[in-house]
Amino acid sequence: MAITGRTKLAAVIGWPVGHSISPCLHGYWLNHHGIDGAYVPLAVRPEDLADAARLLPRIGFVGFNVTGPHKEAALALVDVADAEALRIGAVNTVIVEADGRLRGKNTDAFGFLQGLRAGLPDWDPGHGPAVVIGAGGASRAVCAALIGAGVTELRLVNRTLARAETVARDFGNAVACVPWQGRAEALEGAALLVNTTTQGMTGEPPLDLDLTPLPAAAAVMDIVYAPLETPLLANARAHGNRVIDGLGMILHQGRPGFAAWFGTEPEVTEDLRRHVLERLDAEI
Ligand code: ATR
Repeated sequence: MAITGRTKLAAVIGWPVGHSISPCLHGYWLNHHGIDGAYVPLAVRPEDLADAARLLPRIGFVGFNVTGPHKEAALALVDVADAEALRIGAVNTVIVEADGRLRGKNTDAFGFLQGLRAGLPDWDPGHGPAVVIGAGGASRAVCAALIGAGVTELRLVNRTLARAETVARDFGNAVACVPWQGRAEALEGAALLVNTTTQGMTGEPPLDLDLTPLPAAAAVMDIVYAPLETPLLANARAHGNRVIDGLGMILHQGRPGFAAWFGTEPEVTEDLRRHVLERLDAEI
């Protein structure tokens, strides 16, 4: 679509922002729905985040996504934050309201759950304990999603135990912290394993985790999406587990923002996956 004088504008703010696939994702949906809109990457330094967030609504932007390293800072900047964003402690989606106020949401938990359910339609929180590896921002969104969905036993494993303990304090009794040395035993009897660390990402070493104690009936999800098949997922597949890649989460997390900004509910389809994967492959 050509840009016009009435084009609705949205953006992703990050530093750096060049690796973000959000412009590719939202650009696809805008084109697919024939919407007079544009979604642009904005490279904003941390010290400029507050100015940028205040300026964008005043120059016509309907909203924006926030990515690393700004997600926590964005929570403090918005005028009102949804309960889930407060619980997770981070904002990834900002909607400019009619009166110009900034509403902050966190759609990562939604994206995670939708990605999980798309990859594993019969997943049920009652199937058994979930093991989550990592205790950073992504982990907090995954914990919020799993507990919100009804998981009653979540074993949280992190290299730095104190960080896991902070998450456990915020998310309540369902979360039990496991020290790094206990990570293999934590897999015993688990129904779901989720990696939220950066391990396995292109350029990073694989996640150091022995899957032997994991039941073959368990499902394994990696929120890393580049590469799509991480060493963890390849090992899990060889071990007989069902696997879910991280692309679904990133695609689904974009849906609530797009719907709020452009007034159309977008879908995650095979064609969209192909389109985004082509862009990811071109980058590697
Ligand atoms: P994000 O916001 O994307 O979750 P983060 O807050 O930097 O990113 O968290 C990264 C996660 O990956 C953390 O759980 C981190 O463990 P620590 O809390 O001990 O730092 C984990 N991580 C990073 N490198 C790791 C490694 N080499 N081995 C194990 N875990 C690692």
